[in-house]
Amino acid sequence: MRAVVVYESLWGSTAAVARAIAEGIGPQAQALCTDEASADVVAGADLVVAGAPLLGFTLPTDKMRDGIRTNPGRLPAPPDLSHPSLRSWLAALPSGNGRFAAFETRLRLSPGSATADIARGFERAGYRQVAEAQRFLVKGKYGPLRAGELDKARRWGAELVKAMA
Ligand SMILES: Cc1cc2nc3c(=O)[nH]c(=O)nc-3n(C[C@H](O)[C@H](O)[C@H](O)COP(=O)(O)O)c2cc1C
Repeated sequence: MRAVVVYESLWGSTAAVARAIAEGIGPQAQALCTDEASADVVAGADLVVAGAPLLGFTLPTDKMRDGIRTNPGRLPAPPDLSHPSLRSWLAALPSGNGRFAAFETRLRLSPGSATADIARGFERAGYRQVAEAQRFLVKGKYGPLRAGELDKARRWGAELVKAMA
């Protein structure tokens, strides 16, 4: 099974979860940021897993990212805004007939969802969902991940392989 894990990550937690999910899927899976996950790479995959942080109760918008870029305030670490948003990546996703799974990183107690918009983007392009969306939790607004979340991500990756069988 060919699999890619695509992510948007400003402060690194979603990237770390994406790498752990890819490890859980196995050596054939790659974790790629949005500009690495080209249409060719994705077209060749049976399973596309995609994840992003929950920002402002939703999948980050380009307006939100511009706001962070132009008015960063007092940040503990500079955000990585060098890769396109997952929202714009999904808007440009060509039609496909593979399967998808979605995840988000977030605080424990927050309304809203990034995975609902991720699922809509894949479904618009014809992909079918293989497993329920998953959440991975951070301790504070800028991370880090809570203890055990990377193990949970590896286990989820392995579960996705079974769900594809
Ligand atoms: C500006 C901003 C808005 C956020 N909004 C939310 C939110 O609405 N709900 C939530 O659960 N977490 C929120 N968070 C926390 C992020 O979802 C969390 O830190 C995420 O893991 C960041 O992922 P990254 O390190 O991959 O960029 C917010 C963080 C920032 C900096």
